[in-house]
Amino acid sequence: MANNIYEEKILILDFGSQYTQLIARRVRETQVYCEIHPFNLSLQDIKAFSPNGIILSGGPSSIYDRDAPMPDRAILDLDVPILGICYGMQYLTHILGGEVAKAEDREYGRAVIKIEDIRDLFQGFTLQDEEMAWMSHGDRIDRMPDGFSLLAGSVNSPFAAMADTGRRIFGVQFHPEVAHTPKGYKILKNFLFKICGCRPLWNMRSFVERTIMKLREEIGDDRIICGLSGGVDSSVTAVLLHQAVGSQLSCIFVDNALLRRGESQEVMDLFRGHYNMDFHLVDASERFLRHLKGVTDPEEKRKIIGREFIRVFEKKAGELGKVKFLAQGTLYPDVIESVSFKGPSATIKSHHNVGGLPEIMKLDLIEPLRELFKDEVRQVGVELGLPRELVMRQPFPGPGLAVRILGEITPERLEILRSADVILLEEIWKADLYEKVWQSFAVLLPIRTVGVMGDSRTYENVVAIRIVDSLDAMTADWTRVPYDVLARVSNRIINNVRGVNRVVYDISSKPPSTIEWE
Ligand code: XMP
Repeated sequence: MANNIYEEKILILDFGSQYTQLIARRVRETQVYCEIHPFNLSLQDIKAFSPNGIILSGGPSSIYDRDAPMPDRAILDLDVPILGICYGMQYLTHILGGEVAKAEDREYGRAVIKIEDIRDLFQGFTLQDEEMAWMSHGDRIDRMPDGFSLLAGSVNSPFAAMADTGRRIFGVQFHPEVAHTPKGYKILKNFLFKICGCRPLWNMRSFVERTIMKLREEIGDDRIICGLSGGVDSSVTAVLLHQAVGSQLSCIFVDNALLRRGESQEVMDLFRGHYNMDFHLVDASERFLRHLKGVTDPEEKRKIIGREFIRVFEKKAGELGKVKFLAQGTLYPDVIESVSFKGPSATIKSHHNVGGLPEIMKLDLIEPLRELFKDEVRQVGVELGLPRELVMRQPFPGPGLAVRILGEITPERLEILRSADVILLEEIWKADLYEKVWQSFAVLLPIRTVGVMGDSRTYENVVAIRIVDSLDAMTADWTRVPYDVLARVSNRIINNVRGVNRVVYDISSKPPSTIEWE
C-alpha cells in the first residue's frame, strides 16, 4: 500500500505575488505536499484542508490600500504555524498591533541581512553572520507586534525577520523562495520540518501507485479516451491510464499537418508499438491545410485549428463506441490560474488545449496530473519508464508549426521550417543545451531578403531562431548561446535548406515579447 502522500500538507494563501507558484514548487521540492489558494479562502475550507502549516505569500498591495487583501483573521487562532512572506509579514504585523510604515521608496534587489537569532527559522545558521536576501517591497515594518522578537535585520529593513515562537507565527520581509536568497531554501525547510513538523512524504513513486489505484476505482469497467499530442503531459497521462485500466483506454492522435518531421511516426512507434495501446492515428493533414489556406491572422489560425481538432477528435471518438471519460493532461499551473487571486489571467493568445471537448462530447473529465508541476510530471514519466527524450521534451504549442510560420501556411513553407527545425535541434542537442534551455525552435518569416550564393543573386526566406530560458513560461529571457553554436546552426541552415538565405537570432525577452512569434 502506498504512503499517504497527502497526510501532511501546507496551505499557501496567495496575495497576488509573482512568486507564489515558486513558493509552492520549493515546498514540493522538499517532498511536502502543498496547495495554493486565494487569500480569502473560507475558514471552513481551511479547516477542511487541515494544513500542518500556512504560508502567506507576498503581493503587490500595501496593507493601507482601501481594498488590501485580508484573509480570515481566525487563521491566527488555529494553532497552526504561520509564515508570512513580504506582504504576508506586513499583514501579520498590522493585524497583530505592530507598525507598518508606508513606503517612500521601494526596496528592490539584493540586501544583506544579519542573523540575530538561530533558533527555529534560522536553525543551522551562525549568529551575527551576514546572508544575502532578495527584497522586493514598498512598505516595511517599523515596530514588531507584542510577543515578537527579532530574528534578522538589514540596513533598510531593521525587522527583516521576526517570530512569536510561542504562537509559532513567523515573518520574513525578504523572499526565501527565490534563488537570489541563497539560503532561503534552508529557511523554508526549517519552517516545514522543524516548525510544522512535516515529514518528506510527497514523492512521485507513491503518487503513481496511489493514482493508479484511484483511477481504477473511478473508471471501473467504463471506457476512456485520451488525446495524445506527443508532448510530455498527454503522454504521461496516457501511460498512467494504460497502467491503470489497460485496454479500456483508447488514444487518439491527430496528424494536423503542423507537426515536426517524423513526429507522428515516433508517437505511433511508442504507443502502438512499444506500449501496445489501442492507438488511433487520424491523418487529418489535408483537412487542416485546406481550412488554413490563405489565412494569415494568428488568432484566426488558432481558432481554425482548435475548431478542426474538436471536429476530427469528436468524429473519431464517435466511431469508438460508448465512452464515458475523457482524459486530459491538465497541470497544476492551469488549475491555479483559474482560481488565483487575480482570477483567470487575461487571454493574450487563445491557447489551444482541447478545452472545448468535454462539454461538446458530454464526457466526464479525468485529469490525473492536475496537482502536479511540470517537473513533477517529468518525474512521473521517469517512474513510468517513458524514454528520456520524451520526458525531457521541450514544450510545443498545440497549434504546432502554424504559429511558427508567419503569414500563410503552405506545404512548401512547412517543409522549409521542418528542415530548419531538424538542424537547429540537432545542433542544440550536440551543444548539450536541449535540456538546459526552456525552448529552442525556428520561425519562418514572411519576408524575403537578398543574398548571394556562388555567383548569383538570391532572393529568399529568412529563418529566425528563438532560444529562451524560463522557469514557467510566464517570463523568459533569450539564451546567451555560444556564438560558435549559432554559427553552425546558421551555416547548416543556409547551406542545406533550400529557400533560406538568411538566419537571425531573436534577442527579445518576455515580457514584452512572447516566446512564440504568433
Ligand atoms: P507564449 O508565446 O505565450 O508561450 O509566451 C508560452 C508557452 O506556451 C506555449 N504556447 C502554447 N501552448 N497552445 C499550447 O498548448 C498554444 O496555442 C500555445 N501558444 C504558446 C509556448 O510554446 C510557450 O512554451
